[in-house]
Amino acid sequence: MSDPQNIPDGLSLAECLEVAIAASRAAGKKIVDMLYSAEVHEKSSKDLVTDADIAAQAIIFEVILARFPNHQFVGEEGPPPSGLMKPEPMALATGFDFATSCQIAPEASVYGSEKMPLSLPQPLTGIKSADPPPEIVSSIIPPNCWCWVVDPIDGTANYVHRFPNFAVSIALVRDGTSYVGVVYDPMADELFSAVLSEGARLNAQPIHCSGCKQIDRALIAASFPPNVQRGCVEIEQFIEVLVEAQSLRRLGSAALNLCYVACGRLDGYWAGKVRSWDVAAGILIAEEAGCKLTRMNGSPFVLNLGDLTVASSAPLHAELLGCLNRVS
Ligand code: IPD
Ligand code: CA
Ligand code: CA
Repeated sequence: MSDPQNIPDGLSLAECLEVAIAASRAAGKKIVDMLYSAEVHEKSSKDLVTDADIAAQAIIFEVILARFPNHQFVGEEGPPPSGLMKPEPMALATGFDFATSCQIAPEASVYGSEKMPLSLPQPLTGIKSADPPPEIVSSIIPPNCWCWVVDPIDGTANYVHRFPNFAVSIALVRDGTSYVGVVYDPMADELFSAVLSEGARLNAQPIHCSGCKQIDRALIAASFPPNVQRGCVEIEQFIEVLVEAQSLRRLGSAALNLCYVACGRLDGYWAGKVRSWDVAAGILIAEEAGCKLTRMNGSPFVLNLGDLTVASSAPLHAELLGCLNRVS
């Protein structure tokens, strides 16, 4: 159980979880409602966004801001519009700029889709020069404040093809630690959640990883970046694990992959280049379910650094790292 006295600002994590669940369910309803009508755009080659992503993120911001107007936000589809945020003194002091922390131009973000027309830039601008260098592909989360890290649809390529493996991901983060995480799959009506030190749940029932210890008995998943190139290390790693594992999948949602390892459907998962909004909720859910999670080089996982390896046991984690590092 988290000791409320150890939580900065005396924040109630139970209340944060409640708000995150409400936001994820409201966003999930929106994306299901738009499943057959969403307009698709390309941020960059093969990297998709729809107006459902934008509308869902607006709903999430609206629900969370109504309860926590002083908190900060990093969303895949841009920041909340200026004027709605009350910047934390430390965020200003460090010169943190939400617009440059996000992948898309701020005008792509709308607040309350019912109140304002959607205005997607045509075409979307993709990663801007102010973004971190390519080896650090995650977003930047402001320090010394409560920050909600939001991916309104993780698995947009699946969503666009109506392949039912996508989810809303919402995490409450402070100084690199996820305190609350919610991943909601609206097609399956599965809500994965965790609060730091309080375990992980699926639809309110406690979940645990499988405990599988051997790679030749393991079902493993991998993520690739959208524009993966022939001959890259990710493909070499995929082949290595494909040969060693009982079976290997590329499902298309980093957030759900982490939750599936958490509940024992998968035994392991790795990703070479994910952003913090893909995984901020899922890593907490996986760790609270008993998974072992590190960077691909075995060092402690860092939310802003884009790579992770997770497994249902320490021996399987070691075997998986062995395969991945043979070729990197
Ligand atoms: C993507 C998914 C996918 C991962 C990509 C992410 P998106 O997120 O998590 O599994 O391989 O790197 O970009 O774009 O669907 O939110
Ligand atoms: Ca994502
Ligand atoms: Ca997304």
